[in-house]
Amino acid sequence: MTTNLITGGAGFIGSHLSEILLDKGEKVIVLDNLSTGQFSNIASLEENPNFEVLIDDVGNEDLTEDLIRKSDRVFHLAASVGVRLVIERPTECLTNNILGTDIVLRYACRYRKQVLIASTSEVYGKSVNQVFNEEDDRIMGPTSKSRWGYATSKAVDEFLALAYYEEKHLPVVIARLFNTVGPRQTGRYGMVIPNFVRQALKGEPITVFGDGSQTRCFAHVRDVAPALAGLLAHGGAFGKVFNVGSQEEISILDLAKKVVEKTGSKSEIKVIPYEEAYSAGFEDMQRRVPDLSRIHALLGYEPKHDLEDILEDVIAEQGSCSP
Ligand SMILES: NC(=O)c1ccc[n+]([C@@H]2O[C@H](COP(=O)([O-])OP(=O)(O)OC[C@H]3O[C@@H](n4cnc5c(N)ncnc54)[C@H](O)[C@@H]3O)[C@@H](O)[C@H]2O)c1
Repeated sequence: MTTNLITGGAGFIGSHLSEILLDKGEKVIVLDNLSTGQFSNIASLEENPNFEVLIDDVGNEDLTEDLIRKSDRVFHLAASVGVRLVIERPTECLTNNILGTDIVLRYACRYRKQVLIASTSEVYGKSVNQVFNEEDDRIMGPTSKSRWGYATSKAVDEFLALAYYEEKHLPVVIARLFNTVGPRQTGRYGMVIPNFVRQALKGEPITVFGDGSQTRCFAHVRDVAPALAGLLAHGGAFGKVFNVGSQEEISILDLAKKVVEKTGSKSEIKVIPYEEAYSAGFEDMQRRVPDLSRIHALLGYEPKHDLEDILEDVIAEQGSCSP
């Protein structure tokens, strides 16, 4: 039986991935320090005899080494995530993301295990390409803007993973995730859809940062999590980077309007300049659309859920939690 270690498995994406692997009859070990994840995300899995959870830190090297030794595959999802968290706690973000990946790759290499590293579309930086291809150039902002620290930490993770592949033939694949959303995602660290839905359900103003003309493509976690499982199970993926996401594009202002409409909310939409929402000189990307041809060619990947499905699922989840 295949044993999977999922670092960050009590998080949003990791908990959905855990369910998928358990449904396939595989074993899952979750290692999570609950810094942004929640135990409730995986509580229902505890009854499954193939499931094990350890509340601890990837930085606990002895434990991480032991868990990697016991596993066949490692999904490294543990990271400091979210623009707000990255701006407020840049030291933690940089060290956690870079050192955590270093530890995972080092022991995966020692015990010759297959690894998936979760990266992000942020690594494309400020490029203004129409559609981002994995081999495109990247344009990063200055080091004085902590916002770019997250993108850089993930780019270092990618370089390190590819170096292990080239030099030490470690079977490692990189998933460059674009905006992934769905049930269990928390809005606490600046994620837009859970925040808009919460504000709409409470009748509070919906806060659009910037002028709202920036566009994003949102993928359902129910499409993204199986793609992660598929990538690591496919021998042809090693040594490569894969965009994972959706190409359904919407401006943030239109997203806010859609949330108002779908919730039947009376909330007003309030546009807040970036300087007020974050800090002076905050930079954002205007557009972020993935080229999905590489993952489509390998796995036949195509998102099955659209933005309507995503909003319905998030609204249903938050609606059921409201008093
Ligand atoms: N959700 C997205 O839109 C998105 C987009 C791009 C990339 N990603 C990447 O996907 C991965 C999962 O993100 P998510 O959206 O599920 O966020 P999440 O915050 O829900 O998951 C991250 C998990 O890692 C845990 N964690 C963090 N540091 C840890 C450590 N040192 N030791 C043990 N556990 C630790 C957290 O408690 C959390 O459960 C991350 O690597 C993130 O960078 C996510």
